[in-house]
Parts: sequence; C-alpha cells; structure tokens
Amino acid sequence: MSARHFLSLMDCTPQELNGLIRRGIELKDLRNRGALYEPLKNRVLGMIFEKASTRTRLSFEAGMIQLGGQAIFLSPRDTQLGRGEPISDSAIVMSRMLDAVMIRTFAHSTLTEFAAHSQVPVINGLSDDLHPCQLLADMQTFLEQRGSIQGKTVAWIGDGNNMCNTYIEAAIQFDFQLRVACPQGYEPKAEFLAQAGERVTIVRDPREAVAGAHLVSTDVWTSMGQEEEAGARLQLFRPYQVNRALLDQAAAEVIFLHCLPAHRGEEISQDLLDDPRSLAWDQAENRLHAQKALLEMLVEPAYHHA
Ligand code: CP
Ligand code: NVA
Repeated sequence: MSARHFLSLMDCTPQELNGLIRRGIELKDLRNRGALYEPLKNRVLGMIFEKASTRTRLSFEAGMIQLGGQAIFLSPRDTQLGRGEPISDSAIVMSRMLDAVMIRTFAHSTLTEFAAHSQVPVINGLSDDLHPCQLLADMQTFLEQRGSIQGKTVAWIGDGNNMCNTYIEAAIQFDFQLRVACPQGYEPKAEFLAQAGERVTIVRDPREAVAGAHLVSTDVWTSMGQEEEAGARLQLFRPYQVNRALLDQAAAEVIFLHCLPAHRGEEISQDLLDDPRSLAWDQAENRLHAQKALLEMLVEPAYHHA
C-alpha cells in the first residue's frame, strides 16, 4: 500500500519534522486571527481508541472540524474489532471509507499491522512504545518559547515509558542531547537506545540529569495498561519527583513540560504546574495546532467538484 503513515517520528525526515512544527505555529496564528482555513472539507478521519483520552481525541476531532472535515470516534467496545474481527480486515474496510485513521492502542504491532493493510494514512495516537504526536506539540512549544532545540540538553525524569522512547527519537531527529534519570529496571526500550547512540545517557540521579538542562519533562509513573503495578511503582519512583527545587538545578531559562494527565504529589509536586517555568498548558493546546499541520501533510485535500 502506498499511503504515508505517521507511526513514529522516524517516519519523517528532520526537515519534515521541523516544517511540521513551524506550520503548527502558522496554523495557530491563523486560528488566533479567526481566519477560516478548510483544505480538508469532506475529508473524514476515523479515530480508534483502545485506551482513554482527553487531549488526543479532542485535538484530532476539533482539528479535523477546523480544517473543514470531520472525525468519527470508534471504540473496540462498539465495533467488530472488539469482537475479534482481524486488524487486517478492519484496516482494509475502514480505509475504503475513511481518508485517514488515528489509532490509540496497546501493542505497537497493532499499528504496524493496521498500516500494512490500510490504503489511507495511519497516525499513532499513542501505543505502549511511542507517542509521536505528543512530541510534535512538545517541540512546537520549545520552538515558540526558546527557539531551536538543536544542540540543547533535555532531561527526562522517571519512567522509561512510551513518552521517554519518543524523546529518544526526538533527540535523534531534532539533534539534542537527552539525559534520562530512571530507576534500575525502568529504562527505555533497548531498541530505541541503540538507535540513539551517544545522544542519550542513562543516569540514576535526577539532579545529575537536570544539571544545566534547557528542557525538563516527566510523565506518570504508571501508564495505561500497567494499573496493577501502581502500588510498587509509587514506592520505587518516589525519588524521581520533579519539583521546584529540582528545576532550580537546571539552566536559568529551563522550561518544564508534561504531556498530561498529571498526578500532583507523585511525578510532580503540587505546585509545579503553577511555576512560571511550566508550559504544560501551552503544550496541551499545541497538540491541536501541530496535529492540524500533520493532517494537512498526510491527508489528500478535498475532492474536485464533479
Ligand atoms: N497527552 C495525552 O495524550 O493526553 P490524553 O491521554 O488525554 O489524550
Ligand atoms: N505514558 C502515559 C501517557 C499518557 C498520555 C500512558 O501511556 O498512559
């Protein structure tokens, strides 16, 4: 199948990624000026959610509507996917009716299998391995507030999860140094570390990771699908809370990002999202703008009049 997919940041060149986040800034400006821009009129995005979501669903749905198209929410509970219809068959059928499909799922192989049988673009709305759409928003936020991230130092604190894996891909594609501070046994996946070589270092001490960093980020200690591990993780990750004192160890101009949802009192202190160094609300809003740029790139523009 010839459709172009976005399952990982590695599906784009660094030039394309930088173009996307710059375009996200332009689309944000268009919207703020109240300009109508509807290149995707009559286009339909299907959105399959096997896990919960607030931001991803809203940003894709609102984004499609703003671009002139529409989005359809599909859950396994209400579709034949949840009753065992093969992913490949679902992909063939859905992609004959839709113009793009966004999927939030558990196993990353669900995405690759769907994409292999889809004739329209497939977008990763989060898997157990990666969350590339979130990184578009994160990189847009850094660019808006601090300029290019190239050559800068980023600290990831906490779990080596899907967000951490995606920061590793971002370190490669946007050319920055990444320091990951995580407990033993909770490192990011080896396949991502192997790709990154010397761009990524793993440390145990969060203070060592944030020293002089220009961007600090973290995420929940228990991701979706790991709920039964929550108690054990709470104990183990306690030394990895990001708080104001930890941010004080970073560069003076550091920004803090969190993909949200956040658990105050766990991975961040109660007050961290109120700290002027936190840009988590802008980051959340930028999901909308960055993904509109992505949809504009991936989805064919509207039909010609007959
Ligand atoms: N950050 C993020 O993807 O949020 P949701 O789980 O609400 O979509
Ligand atoms: N790591 C989190 C991110 C949620 C947006 C999870 O997978 O649940």
